[in-house]
Amino acid sequence: MTKNRVLKPVLAAGLYAGSLACSTLAIQAAEGWRNPALSPDERARLLDAELTLDERIGLLHGPMALTFPGGPPIPEGSVGGAGFIPGVPRLGIPALKETDASLGVTNPGEVRPGDTATALPASLALAASFNAKLAYDGGAMIAKEAAAKGFNVLLAGGVNLARDPRNGRNFEYLGEDPLLAGVLGGESIRGIQGQNIISTVKHFSLNGQETGRFYANSVIEEAAHRESDLLAFQIAIERGNPGSVMCAYNLVNGDYSCGNDHLLNGVLKGDWGYKGWVMSDWGAVHAMDYAVKGLDQQSGEQLDQQVWFGEPLKQAALAGTVPAARLSDMSQRILRSMFAAGLFDGKPVKPAIDNDAHAAIAKQVADEGIVLLTNKGILPLAAGARKIVVIGGQADAGVLSGAGSSQVTSHGGNPRMVPVGGDGPMAMWGRQTFHNSSPLKALRAALPEATITFQDGRYPAEAAAAAKNADIAIVFATQWMAEALDAYDLSLPQGQDALIEAVAAANPNAIVVLQTGGPVLMPWKDKVGAVVSAWYSGQKGGESIADVLTGKVNPSGHLPVTFPTSLDQYPRRDLPGWGLPKKQQFDVVYDEGADVGYRRYAALGMEPLFPFGYGLSYTSFSYDKLRVKGGDTLTVSFEVVNTGKVAGKDVPQVYLSGADGKKLQRLIGFEKVDLAPGERKTVTIKADRRLLADFDASARQWRIGGGSYEVTVGPDAATAALTGKARVGRQTIKP
Ligand code: BGC
Repeated sequence: MTKNRVLKPVLAAGLYAGSLACSTLAIQAAEGWRNPALSPDERARLLDAELTLDERIGLLHGPMALTFPGGPPIPEGSVGGAGFIPGVPRLGIPALKETDASLGVTNPGEVRPGDTATALPASLALAASFNAKLAYDGGAMIAKEAAAKGFNVLLAGGVNLARDPRNGRNFEYLGEDPLLAGVLGGESIRGIQGQNIISTVKHFSLNGQETGRFYANSVIEEAAHRESDLLAFQIAIERGNPGSVMCAYNLVNGDYSCGNDHLLNGVLKGDWGYKGWVMSDWGAVHAMDYAVKGLDQQSGEQLDQQVWFGEPLKQAALAGTVPAARLSDMSQRILRSMFAAGLFDGKPVKPAIDNDAHAAIAKQVADEGIVLLTNKGILPLAAGARKIVVIGGQADAGVLSGAGSSQVTSHGGNPRMVPVGGDGPMAMWGRQTFHNSSPLKALRAALPEATITFQDGRYPAEAAAAAKNADIAIVFATQWMAEALDAYDLSLPQGQDALIEAVAAANPNAIVVLQTGGPVLMPWKDKVGAVVSAWYSGQKGGESIADVLTGKVNPSGHLPVTFPTSLDQYPRRDLPGWGLPKKQQFDVVYDEGADVGYRRYAALGMEPLFPFGYGLSYTSFSYDKLRVKGGDTLTVSFEVVNTGKVAGKDVPQVYLSGADGKKLQRLIGFEKVDLAPGERKTVTIKADRRLLADFDASARQWRIGGGSYEVTVGPDAATAALTGKARVGRQTIKP
């Protein structure tokens, strides 16, 4: 074949391809932002260029979609719920219809009369499951319900680290460890956004307590912040790609979070290259110039002193004090996330909801999140137990839930609501709400041969008398937690410790089921037969508790927070800001730095009541065949074997325990494994390099010193079943 004969067809094909490319480009240009083949960034850029100033400003702020006595109705076109940002009908830009939160679709103040939703257990229960797949499934489930109700934004993804056990919102978060919170938070967000619903991640950052939350200044060193709370956000953002980040109420190192140039422009958008938009928390905007400090959207604007991102921002744009490019950046970021979530392409789909399937997901989270803390062989309940008394905790009616903006009005109605009192804007949430899943009924169904009676537990002596008369006494103890309200201390409120003491004295076969929003003290721990931590267990919590108590479900939850022996084990014995006059700013100094929870116990050699990662099972597990490979990072593999007689799930955990001679403790990997009796499985984890590194704030990068890095593998933070080490190379990692 001559050279020419080969070249000609090739050239011809090239020319054809070239003209095709040209005509495709021409079509794409004509379609502009409507072309789904373009990237979300490109589409947002093209669409943004078509906005008038008023239209652009319109995307940057919005009200709550709630009504208040005597106030206007909810905005036209909104779905009653947390928030609303009107769209631009001229261009087919849909409105943002926002609902809370991570635990299910809420219905604040019954704004959608009679509407109910599936209530997931507390996020803390999800964290206790250590099961990333469940996080994804739960996210997808609540997103389907959000879509069915007409929403397209879920204000989910709470990943603040539990630095203080009294924090009223710990139940909405994922525990004290940045890897655990980041992975589970990221998976939940990924699950949500897989349903064409935008998710947030919140509250950025260091929203570590509710006491004085509008005036608390969280003080922390830069490196420590990067290695702890910020790392949780970073991992969650990388995994889940949330369309939006919600900044917090509090200040961080002197600047309000929503007007914090360093956090928003420097860290989030700069170092991390975050492309979505920053929305404010509701009532967290104090000035118009937050726009230049990184905030893109003012939410819940009725709660702020002014609609800063309305007329004031427009005037600033016209005067050029807020550059036009920044204004476009704000709207483009919003549009970009809307394109990325598929809000433009096709009509919003309202999926049909299978309530039973959704309840089953809530149940699985509860099944895997309940933690068995002690067991003197009394659990699972013997089939022969004939007389059981269930005491307290409203267990005849349902299971407790946490309150505040995340409160779900669950299916089946709330069989009991106990008003707590109080005033102010959060008073509408001031009641203990029980989901319709009675542990008493579930126990009766699970143990039809037994006689199970109920005692309300108001009088310890009466409960003790009933316990004396029974084979087994099960006390349900509750600690109600709520947004805007911290626990004053870690005792069980309203005399429940005395109730448990009295019951335990009357009958050694006493079992305590805790329903709490975090750790509590247990002065009676050694006097009872078993302690179970059920957190807030959601839509099917009663059934899950009964299944764990009777052994139908083998408990597999592990603590996502350390349980202390007393408040003296915390860096701040007294709650910062407690009792201060309203509106007075105060510092919350996080001088424990990145040593949150178990890391600080390890650093100080303190022994907790129960360590992070701890949880018992009705079977037993052992670990062997450890292999640790070094290099750029650590790859750790080992085998887990179920050495007991029943099937069960384990959560082996891998900790970094030494870095070139420096002792420390950091969770670098975990996995949930399901094993039949005698079965073994290999677990392999590859450490995120940042967990081996320290953050170098002056060089603005992560730095691994290199050398010999030691690991432990065990069932909790305080137990090293296997130890090993390998060499890791000296290196730096981008921030
Ligand atoms: C909470 C947010 C919530 C928002 C909207 C605020 O009070 O801090 O978590 O998403 O209200 O309801």
